[in-house]
Amino acid sequence: MLSLRRSLRGVRGVSLYIAPSTRAVAKGLAAQAARRTAVAAPYSTKSVAFTADTYGSKVSRDEKYKKLDDADTKYFESVLQDTNGLITDADDLLFFNEDWMRKYRGQSQLVLKPKTTDQVSRILKYCNDNLLAVVPQGGNTGLVGGSVPVFDEIIISLSNLNKIRSFDDVTGILKADAGVILENADQYLADNGYIFPLDLGAKGSCHVGGVVATNAGGLRLLRYGSLHGSVLGLEVVLPDGTIYNSMDSLRKDNTGYDLKQLFIGSEGTIGIITGVSILCPARPQAFNVALLAVSSYETVLKVFAGARRELSEILSAFEFMDGKSQILARRHLKLDHPIESGEYPFYVLIETSGSNKDHDDEKLETFLGNAMEEGLVDDGIIAQDETQLRNLWSWRESLPEVTASAGGVYKYDVSLPLADLYGLVDAANEKLVEANLADLDDESKPVVDAVGYGHIGDGNLHLNVCTRVYSKEIEQVLEPFVYEWISEKKGSVSAEHGLGFQKKNYIGYSKNDVEIEMIKGLKKHYDPNGIMNPYKYV
Ligand code: FAD
Ligand code: MLT
Ligand code: ZN
Repeated sequence: MLSLRRSLRGVRGVSLYIAPSTRAVAKGLAAQAARRTAVAAPYSTKSVAFTADTYGSKVSRDEKYKKLDDADTKYFESVLQDTNGLITDADDLLFFNEDWMRKYRGQSQLVLKPKTTDQVSRILKYCNDNLLAVVPQGGNTGLVGGSVPVFDEIIISLSNLNKIRSFDDVTGILKADAGVILENADQYLADNGYIFPLDLGAKGSCHVGGVVATNAGGLRLLRYGSLHGSVLGLEVVLPDGTIYNSMDSLRKDNTGYDLKQLFIGSEGTIGIITGVSILCPARPQAFNVALLAVSSYETVLKVFAGARRELSEILSAFEFMDGKSQILARRHLKLDHPIESGEYPFYVLIETSGSNKDHDDEKLETFLGNAMEEGLVDDGIIAQDETQLRNLWSWRESLPEVTASAGGVYKYDVSLPLADLYGLVDAANEKLVEANLADLDDESKPVVDAVGYGHIGDGNLHLNVCTRVYSKEIEQVLEPFVYEWISEKKGSVSAEHGLGFQKKNYIGYSKNDVEIEMIKGLKKHYDPNGIMNPYKYV
């Protein structure tokens, strides 16, 4: 890696130093694809408590829902015509019942894995007619407990609906089954010179349909915008079995309400997405990644403002991490930090991507030179090859795993005005210290630390309270305190992870009564029997 401290201190001569070496950097795409694989759940030996027990005081099974019986299972067998399409074995059910954080656990007795949209339609119609509650499930990487049942809901997994349907290499329009794994879709696009307009750490496991259902944001929203902009059409099975199909929609279409938008971010509450048509950009040819150390949150903002100004169209990610998250990462990964000169309060990861390496290198080196000269950056490092590029990204992308590695994590994925954003981490910490719950090393304390990282370019903070156990005591200190704090600052209690089970009762902190009534009205209209993902969302 190229150390900025060694090379840039004194500045201005920097172009001579950096340019030749960065020129050797990442061709980009292979690196992007290789740097992530399927996301393993962070800890796998501990058993997870049933949601019905942990949150028994807040939620109880609605007895209007029928309990699964043999006749139902026989019907599903007749639809799927393949015994591998049904999972009933207790051990096999475990993966589908537990969420990625190992915080929520349902008690479903049945997973269905349809292979066609028609099968999804027949299954849903039957469930609707018989009042059987269902949970649509993609890669089960969701972080708000939305992808697993609360009680005995039937899980409908999209994992067998996993074919690329078509790709147009002139328009860049990809049509795919909902169950295609994001990384596979991206690799397919890479082979055709295109890129999926969304990238996230879970890409080795999450589905194209799952990211649309959650309206995931990820690491490059700054560059490619929200899925509300790039999704062109959807195929969705409604609870009564009706198939809504807008897969052939063109980029411009002002004929009536834009119905697909309703399903983007609907978290499986009004229909099952079975197909996605999405507009994909050309794949950048040149990537650079720099990791910078800065001394304060205010400086992070200054560096961000400079990056937007000076890197402008080639800036593809601007991520921040606090020093505490990097201490935990160092411990968990058992690696030396790439910035060796010391521990710093904040770190920033900047990615540029474009079509001309020389042009990008020049812009980046000028920007970094200026930042050093102005004293904004204390130290930094630039990836010199694909391995280093992956390595720098891993100090950011491993954080979901790192923060959950002590036993559990309370995650707060929030939008806040940039000036206030990090204040929430400080406020949460104060509360935990006040309650005498937190200590980095004292194992008798339930909380390890509260750390912050996230997509600062999108005003999105991930406050992660890393715990040794999940406990009511911790949760009561944090909730509703965190949500009230966000509401006071006019933020959103969910920036990109959704509402799921975790935030069902907190939507009121971000939406007003009229909005909530309109959302409830839509839910009732599309799912009058309430069979879709009950006990969640709204
Ligand atoms: P699941 O987890 O299976 O489901 C999520 C929700 O969508 C559930 O409510 C489910 O019922 C519903 N659903 C799933 N598929 C369908 C479908 N076909 N039709 C209807 N409803 C459906 N999120 C971000 O926004 N940005 C990030 O940077 C990010 N990084 C992550 C990193 C890691 C390591 C992990 C574990 C998660 C991350 N997430 C991130 C969370 C994110 O929500 C998910 O990774 C992804 O969007 C969910 O996709 P999935 O296929 O796993 O869906
Ligand atoms: C991320 O940005 O890493 C994800 O949203 C997951 C997380 O919040 O931990
Ligand atoms: Zn995120």
